[in-house]
Amino acid sequence: MTYQAAADRYSKLSYNRCGRSGLQLPPISLGLWHNFGEVDAIENSRAMLRCAFDNGITHFDLANNYGPPPGSAERRFGALFAQDFLPYRDEWIISTKAGYHMWNGPYGEWGSRKHMLSSLDQSLKRMGLDYVDIFYSHRPDPDTPLEETMGALNTAVRSGKALYVGLSNYRPTEYREAVRILQDLGTPCLIHQARYSLFDRWIEDGLLDAIEETGVGSIVFSPLEQGMLTNKYLKTIPTDSRAANSNSPFLQEASVREHLPKIRALNLIALERGQSLAQMAISWVLRRKTVTSALIGASRREQILDILACLDAAAFSDAELEAIDAACEL
Ligand SMILES: NC(=O)c1ccc[n+]([C@@H]2O[C@H](COP(=O)([O-])OP(=O)(O)OC[C@H]3O[C@@H](n4cnc5c(N)ncnc54)[C@H](OP(=O)(O)O)[C@@H]3O)[C@@H](O)[C@H]2O)c1
Repeated sequence: MTYQAAADRYSKLSYNRCGRSGLQLPPISLGLWHNFGEVDAIENSRAMLRCAFDNGITHFDLANNYGPPPGSAERRFGALFAQDFLPYRDEWIISTKAGYHMWNGPYGEWGSRKHMLSSLDQSLKRMGLDYVDIFYSHRPDPDTPLEETMGALNTAVRSGKALYVGLSNYRPTEYREAVRILQDLGTPCLIHQARYSLFDRWIEDGLLDAIEETGVGSIVFSPLEQGMLTNKYLKTIPTDSRAANSNSPFLQEASVREHLPKIRALNLIALERGQSLAQMAISWVLRRKTVTSALIGASRREQILDILACLDAAAFSDAELEAIDAACEL
């Protein structure tokens, strides 16, 4: 049946300005790293995209290598986008990235101009788009001058293939230098994408300050620690979870077991706040005003709806924040 977006989709969220730019992003964005590859059920992928957009999520994050196999998340996204969402193109913020391994040989990864611009062309072709809204350098390349990688991002914008550019996984010093180069080129950095969660707070050590000082937006990935910061592993490792899925080698059962005491203690704090653990984990990353958006993954639409409910939660008290820190030390 022809998809018609929910008429009330913009009454459900308030949007956050992305740094000092003109762009606003939803507080929750949806990433397509998992559950959108060729190996995954297409109707489930479609249901999640529809659910997200119907509930005010306007930002969808991809990368050249998402799948499996690599590239297939962009192909699947492109097919679903063409079938359901084309009339809404101007309401979607679609991002992709280049920098991790995508094809064989010396040009298939990292930050050379050759890799970055060839990869962007491939991504546009797979998604069937004329442009992406945000094009990222997925990781800094220690062997390529920053000027070359930033020059490629600048070219992506000048050639009309990207509206904005972003940096991902850059440490504070290289981040500041990259932002300066982009500024000099006349293509300001829109956003930085980094990992941030209750269990991984590295960006608090200098990067968030640098982001705030430079007036750039910030989107944080894996805020649920790939599902560990939810109630799904409290009793067992479900067979349909990421930790039990051999297509998802980035979350190991051993890691889940090791973190269980912390997860159980955090779950009790969440319940006292009247939230699910997943909701509390997202409220916690969004408590920092420098964080523009929490970039979640999902394997079913109900998870997206559960997370969205966190936006109504009360602010954390000092006592709650202290209890959370203590639970993370267990
Ligand atoms: N820039 C980078 O280097 C980089 C790296 C990694 C990710 N990312 C981006 O960040 C996005 C999100 O990463 P992520 O998937 O690791 O994020 P995440 O939000 O930490 O984990 C998502 C997983 O958590 C579980 N989940 C989500 N909502 C839930 C709920 N309400 N209740 C119970 N479980 C729930 C699901 O696990 P199950 O599948 O087990 O149900 C889901 O697949 C990616 O899609 C990608 O766009 C970027």
